[in-house]
Amino acid sequence: MTAAELMLGAIRDNPRVVLGLPTGRTPIGMYERVVRECTREYHCFRDVTTFNLDEYVGVPAEHPGSYFTYMKQHLFDHVDLDPAQAHLPHGMAADLGAECVRYENEIRDAGGLELTFLGLGRNGHIGFNEPGTPFDARTRVVTLTESTRKANAEFFPEGSVPTQAITMGIGTILESKRIVLLVAGSGKEAALERLRSGTIGEDFPASALWTHEDVTVLAAV
Ligand code: GLP
Repeated sequence: MTAAELMLGAIRDNPRVVLGLPTGRTPIGMYERVVRECTREYHCFRDVTTFNLDEYVGVPAEHPGSYFTYMKQHLFDHVDLDPAQAHLPHGMAADLGAECVRYENEIRDAGGLELTFLGLGRNGHIGFNEPGTPFDARTRVVTLTESTRKANAEFFPEGSVPTQAITMGIGTILESKRIVLLVAGSGKEAALERLRSGTIGEDFPASALWTHEDVTVLAAV
């Protein structure tokens, strides 16, 4: 099973499915395949609702480095998803605390996440939940680690990589009924090994997934 097949299968089973969606390099292939299929499957995303895991703080939606831009490039512009049903946290909100609460409420009002796809950071982060995050954390503003800022520097001119983001919390993610973790890319071997070891600890956020009963890991490292 590929990640794209899992996503398309979930939509076929429930055309009104609520999806949690990741960004990063890892899921690009999944989105490509989904888009290829959905140009054939008419009205594939018509009734789907999506919630992205995270967004940078202080980066306008139209900035080339925003996750909104990423989602437009890789999915939103190519499928018939209703823009009103495609959610990302607003990193430009005047009141960021209120924005986090609003995002949590939006997920709840949509009926909760049914299927959430995650990437894996080299330090074990999921969404932007860096090491040390309590497993019951909710959507909130976080400060990015230097290594994460470096890994995501591509779209930001020298020195302008954001320092903060809004991310769904680990507790928010764990409430998704099903979770698919995608692991790909260089330098992820150690993280995958740590995950496989089954050692659960806040020093490695992805280890929280061991506490969930329906997780699929698709790894290509
Ligand atoms: C960013 C994202 C994460 C993503 C991670 C891994 O930090 N916020 O959600 O999983 O990068 O990215 P990549 O897939 O590019 O290795």
